[in-house]
Amino acid sequence: MLSKVITISQQKGGSGKTTLAVHLALAFIKYHNLKVAVIDTDPQGSLGKWFMIRTEKKIPNDNLTFKTASLWGAQYESKTLKKDHDIVIIDTPPKIESDARPSIESADLVLIPIAASHVDFWATGAIVEIAKKANKKILIQINRSSQRSKLITKTNEFIKSLDLSATKTIIGNRQIFAASMGEGKTAVEKQKKSNAVEEIKNLSEQILSEIKQ
Ligand SMILES: Nc1ncnc2c1ncn2[C@@H]1O[C@H](COP(=O)(O)OP(=O)(O)OP(=O)(O)O)[C@@H](O)[C@H]1O
Ligand SMILES: [Mg+2]
Repeated sequence: MLSKVITISQQKGGSGKTTLAVHLALAFIKYHNLKVAVIDTDPQGSLGKWFMIRTEKKIPNDNLTFKTASLWGAQYESKTLKKDHDIVIIDTPPKIESDARPSIESADLVLIPIAASHVDFWATGAIVEIAKKANKKILIQINRSSQRSKLITKTNEFIKSLDLSATKTIIGNRQIFAASMGEGKTAVEKQKKSNAVEEIKNLSEQILSEIKQ
């Protein structure tokens, strides 16, 4: 058992936390043969809705565990789950500065999704501060952006200004991420080979090598 916890956090709503949580979970299962648990701490319950559709449609959940918890409860829940899971992914709600600590405390890695946009840069400071204070490994994930975007240089400058690093994989703005989740699936279950699949696969490899260090 690897027994590692990844917390996906970002106060900006709609930055891709839940999308990354489920896609990484399925990529760890499919490409790395790992046992994964996902914890939904968001009262909006989007992850839970996705899991419910999966269950109703009888989509196989081999090696996948789903739990809900409060942000406080996530600390206990992740501690328990990591005993018999390789990876535990905590999906968090937006606007969480005040009670983000327990979910950050539990993490071996804090993944912060941002778009190549100043609006996202402005929203990132609080969570970075909490994760830094807790002495956590932090990775920024550029989501819904193109390598060719003029704002990528600005984004990289911003990440550097926080003395942080981003993952090497930029996740593109791809409809399959949204469409597959609406069916209770993920892009990696819907497609064998595509840009979306490549991106998520590469990302899962990089994140694994980071948390194994
Ligand atoms: N890379 C992407 N390409 C296309 N659509 C995306 C991508 N990432 C996220 N989305 C879409 O953007 C919307 C917000 O994504 P998601 O729900 O994952 O964000 P979130 O950070 O979890 O939001 P919240 O803060 O409300 O929990 C969803 O409709 C999702 O399908
Ligand atoms: Mg979400």
